[in-house]
Amino acid sequence: MKEWQKETVYQIYPRSFQDSNGDGIGDINGIISRLDYLQKLGIGLIWLTPMYLSPGNDNGYDIADYYRIDPVFGTMDDFEKLLSEAHKRDIKIIMDMVLNHTSNENSWFKEALKSKDNPYHNYYIWRDPVDGHEPNNWVSKFSGSAWKYVPELDQYYLHLYDVTMPDLNWRNENLRAEIFKMLTYWANKGIDGFRLDVINNISKDKNMPNDTFNTPLDDGRNFYTNGPHVHEYIHEMYEKVFGPNKFVTVGELSSTPISEAVKYTNPKRQELSMAFTFHHVKVDYTNGKKWTLGHYKLTDLTSILSAWQTQMQRHGGWNALFWNNHDQPRAISRFTNDDEYRDQSAKLLAMVEFGLQGTPYIYQGDEIAMKNAYFTDIKQYKDHESINAYHEMLKNGMSEDLALQILQQKSRENSRLPMQWDSTKYYGFTTGQPWLKPQHHDDYSVEKVLKTKNNIFDFYRALIFLRKHKTVLVDGEYKLLNPKDNSVYSYERFNNKRKILVMANFTEHAQERDVAAGFDLILGNYGDMQLNQGKITLRPYESVMLEKK
Ligand code: GLC
Ligand code: CA
Repeated sequence: MKEWQKETVYQIYPRSFQDSNGDGIGDINGIISRLDYLQKLGIGLIWLTPMYLSPGNDNGYDIADYYRIDPVFGTMDDFEKLLSEAHKRDIKIIMDMVLNHTSNENSWFKEALKSKDNPYHNYYIWRDPVDGHEPNNWVSKFSGSAWKYVPELDQYYLHLYDVTMPDLNWRNENLRAEIFKMLTYWANKGIDGFRLDVINNISKDKNMPNDTFNTPLDDGRNFYTNGPHVHEYIHEMYEKVFGPNKFVTVGELSSTPISEAVKYTNPKRQELSMAFTFHHVKVDYTNGKKWTLGHYKLTDLTSILSAWQTQMQRHGGWNALFWNNHDQPRAISRFTNDDEYRDQSAKLLAMVEFGLQGTPYIYQGDEIAMKNAYFTDIKQYKDHESINAYHEMLKNGMSEDLALQILQQKSRENSRLPMQWDSTKYYGFTTGQPWLKPQHHDDYSVEKVLKTKNNIFDFYRALIFLRKHKTVLVDGEYKLLNPKDNSVYSYERFNNKRKILVMANFTEHAQERDVAAGFDLILGNYGDMQLNQGKITLRPYESVMLEKK
């Protein structure tokens, strides 16, 4: 068993974590000042979203210089200090690495624009116009065409994301060599791993422009998701960088079937340590569409989670477990009740996640039950994806009200609100004006939660502790009980010595269920349990973890 299989990862979105100089943007010194807090929580690794030099059109996922820290976050010295302070506390640091695209302000792209013969031109993906328009009908994930015309070259470049984020051409050996060199530079600084942004999109099909305007409008994902050479490229990174440095790596793999995720993460293949996949957080998409008011059925959620649990384990893959990240609205607002049952809901989600097989991730603020932003005006949003989607919805005839309601439910900006440290106006996040302002004052904060008895933070600590000490939670098999249950999610984890049972009531009504004889409570979000003669009554949003005696 590997250490990172027992540990918990904490995701920091630096911009919103802790500001140290009053400019309203979180920074490295801010993170350093909160390391003791994270140590107390008990996490073993931190994943930092990008802090490289960037114009910030996608909050750092648009990298202008891979070798520099953006001054907004601090200096390279600050970063090195963060690394050593984290290591002193036995916390590993995983950097986010964006290899599918760069910013258009990256010097590679600036060179690429100079001429078709420039050696950097071929670092990106270019196509000639077809009958005077885009080479094909692909839409960017941030709305609009995925192609941008450059008149000076009479060519289009591909951008699967923002128009300021051109996709890199991994077929080019020189580009790959540059990337390995750059990864090695970071490895030599002593970091402990990478989270690899949209890594399964890096290998584009040679024939991709043939996806013509006649095919139904689509994002072309079949031509670049888990493309022809992606496993080779990742294995090459493993051989050159990840393996020799004993890195912990996690790939962001959207739209990926289990069979592929197994290939990326089975250690025998020497690619990645684990995989983020997204089927469970798309469960409230209506007909596969994100920008809709969504509802979900618990059985859909549990069947997705269960398929990933059983099949990844059967084939030697490894899941990264999560409900939230900087691209997702808060799960507490989405799947449970963030109001009357806020504490219970936060703990229930934590327990369901930590009971599963894989490495659990906590996104900043989960541990104090942070919830959606509920913005009421489009002007409150900064995120390009959300703003573009809003205009697209209006263009398609939707009312402003409905479009805003959809953003309140689905926008990723919901989880980017500054971290709530105390009860002052901007929660101790900044002494200035936060880059993203909360709509309401929310009285949940670290300060308040820590003063509360049986608080959420301590509940997470208990779960982190349990995973380190009960190996059945790490290596045990998984079994879904009552697959048709639409109110209570029940599953077991077991090996030849132990058996754990997790039950979680996803409704605001009491639910009675059978429990086999011989189970004791090890953790519950109400503190006790109501078990009588083989029947448990689960109170609203109650969750329990039981162990067989
Ligand atoms: C990933 C990141 C997201 C970003 C996108 C493009 O999905 O998590 O925040 O916008 O990649 O880099
Ligand atoms: Ca700052």
